[in-house]
Amino acid sequence: MVCLHYSYFHICWCSDSYRIGGFSQKHVFITGCDSGFGNLLARQLDQKGFRVIAGCLTEKGAADLAAATSPRLKTLLLNVTDSASIRSVVEFVRREVGERGLWGLVNNAGRSVPIGPTEWMQLEDFAKVLDVNLIGVIDVTLQFLPLLKKAKGRVVNVASILGRLSLTGGGYCLSKWGVEAFSDSLRRDMQHFGIKVSIIEPGFFKTGVTSVDLINADLKRLWARLPQDVKDSYGATYLDDYIRMQGFSMNILCSPDISKVTWCMEHALTAQHPRTRYGAGWDAKFFWIPLSYLPSFVSDFVVNVLLPSPKDKASS
Ligand SMILES: NC(=O)c1ccc[n+]([C@@H]2O[C@H](COP(=O)([O-])OP(=O)(O)OC[C@H]3O[C@@H](n4cnc5c(N)ncnc54)[C@H](OP(=O)(O)O)[C@@H]3O)[C@@H](O)[C@H]2O)c1
Repeated sequence: MVCLHYSYFHICWCSDSYRIGGFSQKHVFITGCDSGFGNLLARQLDQKGFRVIAGCLTEKGAADLAAATSPRLKTLLLNVTDSASIRSVVEFVRREVGERGLWGLVNNAGRSVPIGPTEWMQLEDFAKVLDVNLIGVIDVTLQFLPLLKKAKGRVVNVASILGRLSLTGGGYCLSKWGVEAFSDSLRRDMQHFGIKVSIIEPGFFKTGVTSVDLINADLKRLWARLPQDVKDSYGATYLDDYIRMQGFSMNILCSPDISKVTWCMEHALTAQHPRTRYGAGWDAKFFWIPLSYLPSFVSDFVVNVLLPSPKDKASS
């Protein structure tokens, strides 16, 4: 039995460690490179010799990245919610890659706010997040598919452990569940053409999307527009309690070492046999993903520990 286990892990380890070569002939396009995972991945792949084309939302983000990398790396402005912007980026990439096609597409761009209690949201709050994190991913992928087919390339989609466990209201968890489902169908449909699709499921990391200042400022906006009777049902101190407890949890949960995530992205682009799913970070691997398999009363309990209860809580 021990021998069988050893052989299984040995085979997995060997298959995991075979890498592709010829990085200098391979183009990778990454969205959301102004900051966070996308920015680090662009720099990391550039150092390895890949031909990186980095999509940035802002001119400043693009200029800072270009200044920190080799002349091989090209930056482009891209807003993933704008189909025309995607089309012109695809045209640029088509000219760059020529007959080789595009080796890697990393759908990384994302936003978290508005995020918070479901009752505080309006329809457009959901749409703001879904447009970037889900519809943007679908639009970018569909427009790049012909170039990916040419190279028998890779698609790397950044989901989240919040695509396994819906821990909070707003569009974020929905969008990441959507990315999981889109990536699964894409993988099954495109395997026939040699395209491999991987999903990255990071735990909590200190970046723009987990910035408590940004999240708190938006929570205050959501609270301010609530009707008085809704505010009363939560209680006068609820917003402050929510902000305090969420800040406390995020401070403990968020890891500053974002290279754990970019290591997974790099593996998905360079391994002979990339994995379908990468849990990135110890919290994802050993807490959140296992928790997602447990009965929902267990994850409900965890959320109740992390966040306050409203004043008018119904007794069960
Ligand atoms: N940090 C975490 O704990 C965590 C966990 C799980 C999954 N993720 C996912 O990881 C990905 C990268 O996020 P991150 O953590 O590295 O945070 P980040 O530093 O905020 O990176 C997200 C990037 O996407 C850009 N962006 C936002 N809206 C865009 C749009 N419409 N078009 C193009 N780019 C846009 C942002 O630009 P601006 O900064 O200019 O807005 C930013 O550069 C996201 O998909 C996020 O959901 C993060």
